[in-house]
Order: sequence, then structure tokens, then C-alpha cells
Amino acid sequence: MSYILVNKNESHSKAISLQLKTKFSIDIILYTTLEQARGMLEILPDIKGVLLLASVSASDMEYFLKKTESLDFKLIVPREQPSGEKCTLWETNEDLIDFIAEQEKTEQSTEGDFCKFPVSHLNILKSAPVDYYLMIGDNRKFLKVINKSDSDFQEALSKVHARKIKYLYVHNEDVPMMLKSVEKIFHDTSVKKKEVDFIKVQEEVYGLMQSVGLSESALNLAQESIEGITDRLSSSKDTKKLLNSLYVNSTSKSYQLTYMTAVVSVNLLSQFSWSTKEMRVALINAAFFNDIKLEGDDVFHRNLESIKNIKGTKNIEILEHASKTAEFLEKTSLSQLQQTCKIVREHHGERSGVGFSYNLSGISKLSDIFIVSEEFCIDMIHAKGGKINIGNILKSISQRYSGKFVNEYCQALLNIFKG
Ligand SMILES: [Fe+2]
Repeated sequence: MSYILVNKNESHSKAISLQLKTKFSIDIILYTTLEQARGMLEILPDIKGVLLLASVSASDMEYFLKKTESLDFKLIVPREQPSGEKCTLWETNEDLIDFIAEQEKTEQSTEGDFCKFPVSHLNILKSAPVDYYLMIGDNRKFLKVINKSDSDFQEALSKVHARKIKYLYVHNEDVPMMLKSVEKIFHDTSVKKKEVDFIKVQEEVYGLMQSVGLSESALNLAQESIEGITDRLSSSKDTKKLLNSLYVNSTSKSYQLTYMTAVVSVNLLSQFSWSTKEMRVALINAAFFNDIKLEGDDVFHRNLESIKNIKGTKNIEILEHASKTAEFLEKTSLSQLQQTCKIVREHHGERSGVGFSYNLSGISKLSDIFIVSEEFCIDMIHAKGGKINIGNILKSISQRYSGKFVNEYCQALLNIFKG
């Protein structure tokens, strides 16, 4: 059983979550928007309640109040929120923590002499007043990785993060000191103003969509991300800068591919006088949904021979993912976006959406734009760490693919990114 906490302010949410996890071993699922929380509330089983850290509109309140009709569902809202008698009101952070602790009646959480902290939450701390340890293997050996005297805690933490370490441990005796630093965050007024990082939020939403699979709830979750990327594209004058921030700041390859394809394809489209707003929307939507049925590195498969060698039913799933996803979208609220469904179906060069083709002569012009853009992004992602030669990437695409417009689109991309 878990609670969902909704708050725009990431630092505040993480501080509450750290306190609950550390003091009472209670897990809290954090969301930054009401849309995400509502979407996940419909999907996740065993949610015990929702904590709202800021007031919400009357219609959102009505939605959450309906949930309290079911037994045991708790709704905790700020004191100033107009609400009903089924809600619990909170005024201070301590009220919130005490209320949840009282509900759960749990003991303090420890791993023997150590207490465990998620690395993703520790980034809210500016300094490290205590030593941090890593647990090696399952034999409970602890290795110090961050020293309390480290002058740059954030840098030390980013090194830990880069090694994909998910948890760090603190000596039980140091936990009160650690919690004091967390509490300071509640009183830091600059924290209240800090908005969450765009890329991290989008990455999380995309990960959630992948984990819940294709469903109406996933589509609802996606809409917000799509609006986010659309706003970003319309307000950004510097495409290369936007692309670079996606490239450098994201750690998820499938997320990178989604957003980079949206950015590149919209820019490529804008080079042609026949482009329309509907086409632009279709490309962004297609970048989101085209590979939603695939997991991890499966999105990079292109070679029919190597796909056939994949064991089990996975090879069929990969071969048919374009047609199956298009069929699903055609039955949903996105069905009016016919161009989106068409691009999704044709995004591997086959009109039927089954298989992979390097001959693009049988598909629409917009699907061609999408394919050239996606291939361009894949080659850039794979070149990460090495030197990227845009000219060579585009030359290789025009050699791999045949079709009336391939060369023209590669040339247009070269003009955008070389210029
Ligand atoms: Fe695909």
C-alpha cells in the first residue's frame, strides 16, 4: 500500500518523502502534476491515499473526493483548500508526516546499523553533513563513497549517480543530523520557487507510459508531455541548443529517441512550404506513440535477419509493433488524428505496418520525414561518446534508404544542422 503525493515543487516532495521513508519506512509515490496523479490512480492497485501539497480546482477536488467514497481511501489537503468532511487538513509539514505515520503505525526503518536513502532524492541537499556508504553485494559490506568533509556534495553525488547507483546508506547515528538537513529545506523559501526540471519530468512520464503499456490512461498521461514539447518547440529559437540539452541531460535512450525525433522532424517539416500545423502535431504525436509497445533497446532493431533470431514471441512483437500500435490508436480518442495513425503504421517503411523496409516509395511524404528524422536521431544517440559527424550520418541514411524524397530530406537536415 502506498500514498501518492502531488506537488509541482520537487524539492518539497522529496523532503517529505525522505522523512517518511527514513523515520517510518513508508514509501510515497511522487508526481508533479494532477494529470499524472489522476492517470496513475486509475492504474495502480493498492493506493491508500493522496496527499495534495497545494490547493486544487473545484473539479479536481470533486474527482479526489469521489475516491474517498471507497473505504479507507485518505485524502489529505492543505488547510486553505475548500473541501469536505472526509478530508484531512494539514497546515505544517509535521502535520503531514505525523498523520501518515499515525495511519501506518510503523517502526523506524533500518538496514542493521545503516539507513537507506534513494540517490534520486538526495540531490535536494546542498551539502553532506554525514558520511554516505554503498552496500556491496548481499553480504552487507559497506564502503564509504561520500565523505562528510567533501566540499562539493552535488559533484560527489553526480559521480555516484553516473555509476547508476540507486541507494546510499547512512549510519543510524547520523540519521538525526541528516534529517535536520532535510527539514531545513522546508524553511528554505528559494526551494518553494524552484520548478522541477523539464527533462527529468518528461523522462519520468515517458517511463511511466512505457511501463503501463498502451491504454487510454497512458494516452492521457502522454497528452501533457506532448503539450510540453510543443510549447518548448514553439518558444525555442535555437533548435540545436534544445536538441543538445535533450542529448546531454537525458539518461534514457528511448526517451531521448522520442523527444529528439519530435524536435528534428518538426524542424525538417518547417523547411517545406506545404507544411501545415496538423502535420506538425502528427509528427510530435507519432514520435511519442510509435514505439510505445517496445521495451528498452528493442526500439533500435532494423535488421530483419537479426530480428528473426530473437527467441520466443518477441520477434513477432517487434515485426508487428507498428501495425498493432496504429490499430490501437485508431480505436481511441486519437483516431481523429488520422495522419498520426498513418505515420505510426508506416514508420518502418511498410505500408501495412508489418516488417521493416528500406524502400520508402510506397508510403506518405510525412512518414518519409519521420523515418529520416528518426534514423538521424538513432545514429546520433549511438554516436554518443564518440565524435558525431552529421554529414556522414546523413550520407549513410541516403545510402541505406531509397525513395523519391530521401535525398531531399537528408539535404534539408544537413542545411539545418550544418548551418
Ligand atoms: Fe518502431
